Amino acid sequence: MGQKMSNNNKYLGKKWVIGNWKMNPANVDTVFEFCQEFAQKLSKETNWQSSVVVGIAPSFVHLGLVDYCLSGEHLGHDKELPIVLVSQDVSGFGKQAGAFTGDVSAMQISDLAECTLIGHSERRQYHGEDDELLIEKIKNAFDANLSVVYCIGETKQEYERGETKTVLEKQLKLLVQFTKEISSLEDTLFPKLIVAYEPVWAIGTGLTPTLDEIKEVHHFVGQTLSAFEITVPIIYGGSVNDKNAADISSCQGVDGVLVGGASLRADSFVTIIQAFA
Ligand code: PGA
Repeated sequence: MGQKMSNNNKYLGKKWVIGNWKMNPANVDTVFEFCQEFAQKLSKETNWQSSVVVGIAPSFVHLGLVDYCLSGEHLGHDKELPIVLVSQDVSGFGKQAGAFTGDVSAMQISDLAECTLIGHSERRQYHGEDDELLIEKIKNAFDANLSVVYCIGETKQEYERGETKTVLEKQLKLLVQFTKEISSLEDTLFPKLIVAYEPVWAIGTGLTPTLDEIKEVHHFVGQTLSAFEITVPIIYGGSVNDKNAADISSCQGVDGVLVGGASLRADSFVTIIQAFA
Protein backbone atom coordinates (compact mmCIF):
# COMPACT_ATOMS: atom_id res chain seq x y z
CA MET A 1 0.00 0.00 0.00
CA GLY A 2 1.09 3.58 -0.56
CA GLN A 3 3.71 4.48 1.99
CA LYS A 4 3.15 8.10 1.17
CA MET A 5 -0.43 8.15 2.35
CA SER A 6 -1.39 9.80 5.56
CA ASN A 7 -1.26 7.53 8.59
CA ASN A 8 -4.75 8.64 9.47
CA ASN A 9 -5.98 7.04 6.32
CA LYS A 10 -8.80 4.70 7.25
CA TYR A 11 -8.13 2.69 4.09
CA LEU A 12 -4.45 2.14 4.82
CA GLY A 13 -3.34 -1.49 4.78
CA LYS A 14 -6.73 -2.83 3.75
CA LYS A 15 -7.57 -5.09 0.82
CA TRP A 16 -9.88 -3.92 -1.94
CA VAL A 17 -12.84 -5.83 -3.33
CA ILE A 18 -14.54 -3.82 -6.05
CA GLY A 19 -17.52 -5.04 -8.06
CA ASN A 20 -17.64 -3.86 -11.66
CA TRP A 21 -21.23 -4.26 -12.81
CA LYS A 22 -20.53 -3.10 -16.38
CA MET A 23 -23.85 -2.60 -18.25
CA ASN A 24 -25.76 -4.71 -15.69
CA PRO A 25 -28.38 -5.29 -14.43
CA ALA A 26 -31.07 -4.47 -16.97
CA ASN A 27 -33.50 -2.68 -14.64
CA VAL A 28 -33.84 -0.86 -11.33
CA ASP A 29 -35.87 -3.66 -9.73
CA THR A 30 -32.89 -5.98 -9.99
CA VAL A 31 -30.56 -3.34 -8.53
CA PHE A 32 -32.96 -2.94 -5.64
CA GLU A 33 -33.23 -6.70 -5.04
CA PHE A 34 -29.46 -7.16 -5.22
CA CYS A 35 -28.87 -4.40 -2.66
CA GLN A 36 -31.46 -5.83 -0.25
CA GLU A 37 -29.94 -9.30 -0.39
CA PHE A 38 -26.35 -8.04 -0.37
CA ALA A 39 -26.96 -5.80 2.66
CA GLN A 40 -28.67 -8.62 4.50
CA LYS A 41 -25.88 -11.13 3.81
CA LEU A 42 -22.97 -8.75 4.36
CA SER A 43 -24.34 -7.36 7.62
CA LYS A 44 -24.30 -10.90 9.02
CA GLU A 45 -20.55 -11.07 8.41
CA THR A 46 -18.71 -9.29 11.16
CA ASN A 47 -14.99 -9.39 10.54
CA TRP A 48 -14.54 -7.77 7.13
CA GLN A 49 -14.78 -4.06 7.90
CA SER A 50 -11.41 -3.82 9.63
CA SER A 51 -9.54 -5.44 6.75
CA VAL A 52 -11.47 -4.93 3.50
CA VAL A 53 -12.72 -1.91 1.57
CA VAL A 54 -15.71 -2.87 -0.57
CA GLY A 55 -16.56 -0.87 -3.66
CA ILE A 56 -19.37 -1.15 -6.20
CA ALA A 57 -19.23 0.31 -9.69
CA PRO A 58 -22.76 0.30 -11.14
CA SER A 59 -23.74 1.99 -14.38
CA PHE A 60 -24.08 5.78 -14.19
CA VAL A 61 -27.86 5.67 -13.96
CA HIS A 62 -27.77 3.27 -11.00
CA LEU A 63 -25.18 5.12 -8.89
CA GLY A 64 -27.78 7.11 -6.99
CA LEU A 65 -29.99 4.09 -6.41
CA VAL A 66 -27.16 1.92 -5.06
CA ASP A 67 -26.08 4.81 -2.85
CA TYR A 68 -29.60 5.10 -1.44
CA CYS A 69 -30.24 1.34 -1.09
CA LEU A 70 -27.10 0.79 0.99
CA SER A 71 -27.49 3.96 3.07
CA GLY A 72 -28.47 4.31 6.71
CA GLU A 73 -31.51 6.24 5.55
CA HIS A 74 -32.80 3.12 3.81
CA LEU A 75 -31.32 0.27 5.89
CA GLY A 76 -31.54 1.91 9.30
CA HIS A 77 -28.61 3.88 10.69
CA ASP A 78 -27.28 0.97 12.74
CA LYS A 79 -27.14 -1.17 9.58
CA GLU A 80 -25.52 1.29 7.17
CA LEU A 81 -22.79 -0.37 5.10
CA PRO A 82 -19.52 1.46 4.39
CA ILE A 83 -19.51 0.77 0.66
CA VAL A 84 -17.40 2.94 -1.62
CA LEU A 85 -19.25 4.01 -4.74
CA VAL A 86 -17.13 3.75 -7.86
CA SER A 87 -17.87 5.09 -11.34
CA GLN A 88 -17.04 2.97 -14.39
CA ASP A 89 -15.70 5.92 -16.34
CA VAL A 90 -15.51 9.72 -16.59
CA SER A 91 -15.48 12.05 -19.55
CA GLY A 92 -12.12 12.84 -21.08
CA PHE A 93 -13.45 16.17 -22.30
CA GLY A 94 -14.90 18.80 -20.00
CA LYS A 95 -14.04 18.10 -16.40
CA GLN A 96 -17.00 20.05 -15.05
CA ALA A 97 -19.73 20.52 -17.63
CA GLY A 98 -20.17 21.27 -21.32
CA ALA A 99 -21.56 20.32 -24.71
CA PHE A 100 -20.53 16.64 -24.77
CA THR A 101 -23.67 14.63 -25.43
CA GLY A 102 -23.70 11.28 -23.68
CA ASP A 103 -20.67 12.06 -21.49
CA VAL A 104 -20.66 12.33 -17.70
CA SER A 105 -18.09 14.63 -16.15
CA ALA A 106 -15.75 13.82 -13.28
CA MET A 107 -17.26 16.72 -11.37
CA GLN A 108 -20.79 15.32 -11.79
CA ILE A 109 -19.58 11.90 -10.63
CA SER A 110 -17.85 13.33 -7.59
CA ASP A 111 -21.23 14.25 -6.08
CA LEU A 112 -21.86 10.54 -5.61
CA ALA A 113 -18.71 8.47 -6.06
CA GLU A 114 -15.24 8.64 -4.48
CA CYS A 115 -13.48 6.83 -7.22
CA THR A 116 -13.61 5.88 -10.90
CA LEU A 117 -12.33 3.08 -13.12
CA ILE A 118 -10.26 4.34 -16.06
CA GLY A 119 -8.83 2.38 -18.98
CA HIS A 120 -10.87 -0.79 -18.58
CA SER A 121 -10.06 -3.06 -21.53
CA GLU A 122 -13.70 -2.95 -22.67
CA ARG A 123 -13.39 0.86 -23.00
CA ARG A 124 -10.05 0.52 -24.80
CA GLN A 125 -11.46 -2.18 -27.10
CA TYR A 126 -15.02 -1.03 -27.87
CA HIS A 127 -14.52 2.72 -27.62
CA GLY A 128 -11.00 2.97 -28.99
CA GLU A 129 -9.73 4.76 -25.88
CA ASP A 130 -6.07 5.54 -26.36
CA ASP A 131 -3.36 6.89 -24.08
CA GLU A 132 -4.07 10.48 -25.04
CA LEU A 133 -7.72 10.21 -23.96
CA LEU A 134 -6.88 8.20 -20.84
CA ILE A 135 -4.48 10.93 -19.73
CA GLU A 136 -7.30 13.49 -20.00
CA LYS A 137 -9.63 11.22 -18.04
CA ILE A 138 -7.12 10.73 -15.23
CA LYS A 139 -6.47 14.47 -15.15
CA ASN A 140 -10.19 15.21 -14.95
CA ALA A 141 -10.72 12.61 -12.22
CA PHE A 142 -7.87 13.93 -10.07
CA ASP A 143 -9.02 17.52 -10.56
CA ALA A 144 -12.47 16.54 -9.32
CA ASN A 145 -10.88 14.78 -6.36
CA LEU A 146 -11.85 11.32 -7.53
CA SER A 147 -9.47 8.44 -6.99
CA VAL A 148 -8.63 6.31 -9.99
CA VAL A 149 -8.57 2.54 -10.51
CA TYR A 150 -6.38 2.40 -13.61
CA CYS A 151 -6.83 -0.89 -15.50
CA ILE A 152 -4.06 -2.55 -17.49
CA GLY A 153 -3.69 -5.96 -19.10
CA GLU A 154 -2.45 -7.88 -22.11
CA THR A 155 -4.49 -9.65 -24.79
CA LYS A 156 -4.39 -13.40 -25.39
CA GLN A 157 -2.06 -13.00 -28.37
CA GLU A 158 0.29 -10.77 -26.40
CA TYR A 159 0.25 -13.29 -23.53
CA GLU A 160 1.03 -16.15 -25.89
CA ARG A 161 3.86 -14.20 -27.51
CA GLY A 162 5.35 -13.59 -24.05
CA GLU A 163 4.82 -9.83 -24.34
CA THR A 164 2.90 -9.29 -21.10
CA LYS A 165 5.54 -7.19 -19.36
CA THR A 166 6.28 -5.04 -22.40
CA VAL A 167 2.57 -4.27 -22.82
CA LEU A 168 2.08 -3.46 -19.15
CA GLU A 169 5.15 -1.28 -19.04
CA LYS A 170 3.77 0.78 -21.90
CA GLN A 171 0.34 1.06 -20.26
CA LEU A 172 1.91 2.12 -16.97
CA LYS A 173 4.11 4.73 -18.62
CA LEU A 174 1.36 7.30 -18.84
CA LEU A 175 1.05 7.36 -15.06
CA VAL A 176 4.50 8.84 -14.74
CA GLN A 177 3.23 12.27 -15.64
CA PHE A 178 0.96 12.14 -12.60
CA THR A 179 3.73 11.15 -10.21
CA LYS A 180 3.44 14.38 -8.26
CA GLU A 181 -0.33 14.10 -7.78
CA ILE A 182 -0.18 10.41 -6.90
CA SER A 183 2.63 10.80 -4.40
CA SER A 184 1.42 14.00 -2.80
CA LEU A 185 0.48 13.79 0.83
CA GLU A 186 -2.96 15.21 0.32
CA ASP A 187 -5.53 15.23 3.00
CA THR A 188 -7.47 12.51 1.27
CA LEU A 189 -8.88 9.39 2.88
CA PHE A 190 -8.47 7.35 -0.28
CA PRO A 191 -5.38 6.39 -2.21
CA LYS A 192 -5.20 8.59 -5.27
CA LEU A 193 -4.53 5.60 -7.46
CA ILE A 194 -5.07 1.85 -7.53
CA VAL A 195 -3.72 -0.21 -10.42
CA ALA A 196 -5.86 -3.16 -11.56
CA TYR A 197 -4.03 -5.89 -13.48
CA GLU A 198 -6.68 -7.49 -15.68
CA PRO A 199 -5.45 -9.81 -18.42
CA VAL A 200 -7.91 -9.24 -21.28
CA TRP A 201 -8.08 -12.97 -21.97
CA ALA A 202 -9.17 -13.65 -18.38
CA ILE A 203 -12.10 -11.23 -18.38
CA GLY A 204 -15.43 -13.04 -18.48
CA THR A 205 -13.85 -16.25 -19.81
CA GLY A 206 -13.45 -18.36 -16.67
CA LEU A 207 -9.69 -18.47 -17.41
CA THR A 208 -7.15 -17.05 -15.01
CA PRO A 209 -3.35 -16.91 -14.97
CA THR A 210 -1.66 -19.27 -12.51
CA LEU A 211 -1.04 -17.92 -9.02
CA ASP A 212 2.68 -17.78 -9.82
CA GLU A 213 1.95 -15.71 -12.92
CA ILE A 214 -0.25 -13.32 -10.94
CA LYS A 215 2.46 -12.99 -8.28
CA GLU A 216 5.14 -12.35 -10.87
CA VAL A 217 3.13 -9.73 -12.75
CA HIS A 218 2.11 -7.90 -9.57
CA HIS A 219 5.75 -7.82 -8.52
CA PHE A 220 6.69 -6.46 -11.94
CA VAL A 221 4.01 -3.74 -11.79
CA GLY A 222 5.14 -2.75 -8.29
CA GLN A 223 8.80 -2.56 -9.39
CA THR A 224 7.97 -0.59 -12.53
CA LEU A 225 6.04 2.00 -10.55
CA SER A 226 8.49 2.22 -7.70
CA ALA A 227 11.15 3.29 -10.19
CA PHE A 228 9.07 6.47 -10.38
CA GLU A 229 8.51 6.57 -6.62
CA ILE A 230 4.91 5.52 -7.03
CA THR A 231 3.69 2.99 -4.47
CA VAL A 232 0.04 2.10 -4.83
CA PRO A 233 -2.27 -0.87 -4.20
CA ILE A 234 -2.25 -3.37 -7.09
CA ILE A 235 -5.38 -5.47 -7.47
CA TYR A 236 -6.15 -8.38 -9.77
CA GLY A 237 -9.18 -8.74 -12.08
CA GLY A 238 -10.39 -11.39 -14.55
CA SER A 239 -12.73 -14.30 -13.74
CA VAL A 240 -12.46 -13.88 -9.98
CA ASN A 241 -15.22 -15.93 -8.35
CA ASP A 242 -16.28 -17.44 -5.05
CA LYS A 243 -14.19 -20.56 -5.76
CA ASN A 244 -10.82 -19.00 -6.63
CA ALA A 245 -10.95 -15.85 -4.45
CA ALA A 246 -9.29 -17.47 -1.42
CA ASP A 247 -6.31 -18.66 -3.49
CA ILE A 248 -5.96 -15.31 -5.19
CA SER A 249 -6.18 -13.51 -1.84
CA SER A 250 -3.23 -15.55 -0.55
CA CYS A 251 -1.10 -14.51 -3.50
CA GLN A 252 1.78 -12.24 -2.53
CA GLY A 253 1.46 -8.71 -3.91
CA VAL A 254 -2.29 -8.90 -4.51
CA ASP A 255 -3.96 -6.01 -2.67
CA GLY A 256 -7.48 -6.96 -3.72
CA VAL A 257 -9.66 -7.78 -6.69
CA LEU A 258 -11.83 -6.18 -9.35
CA VAL A 259 -14.78 -8.52 -9.88
CA GLY A 260 -17.16 -8.50 -12.84
CA GLY A 261 -19.72 -11.30 -13.24
CA ALA A 262 -19.40 -12.69 -9.71
CA SER A 263 -20.20 -9.29 -8.17
CA LEU A 264 -23.71 -9.43 -9.63
CA ARG A 265 -24.75 -12.22 -7.28
CA ALA A 266 -24.96 -11.22 -3.63
CA ASP A 267 -23.84 -14.62 -2.31
CA SER A 268 -20.73 -14.91 -4.47
CA PHE A 269 -19.76 -11.27 -3.92
CA VAL A 270 -20.03 -11.70 -0.14
CA THR A 271 -17.95 -14.92 -0.30
CA ILE A 272 -15.24 -13.04 -2.23
CA ILE A 273 -15.27 -10.23 0.35
CA GLN A 274 -14.90 -12.83 3.10
CA ALA A 275 -11.96 -14.41 1.28
CA PHE A 276 -10.08 -11.12 1.63
CA ALA A 277 -11.12 -10.44 5.23
P1 PGA B 1 -15.01 -10.74 -14.82
O1 PGA B 1 -14.73 -9.21 -15.18
O2 PGA B 1 -14.79 -10.88 -13.33
O3 PGA B 1 -16.42 -11.00 -15.22
O4 PGA B 1 -14.03 -11.55 -15.58
C1 PGA B 1 -13.74 -8.46 -14.54
C2 PGA B 1 -13.66 -7.07 -15.10
O5 PGA B 1 -13.88 -6.87 -16.30
O6 PGA B 1 -13.39 -6.11 -14.35
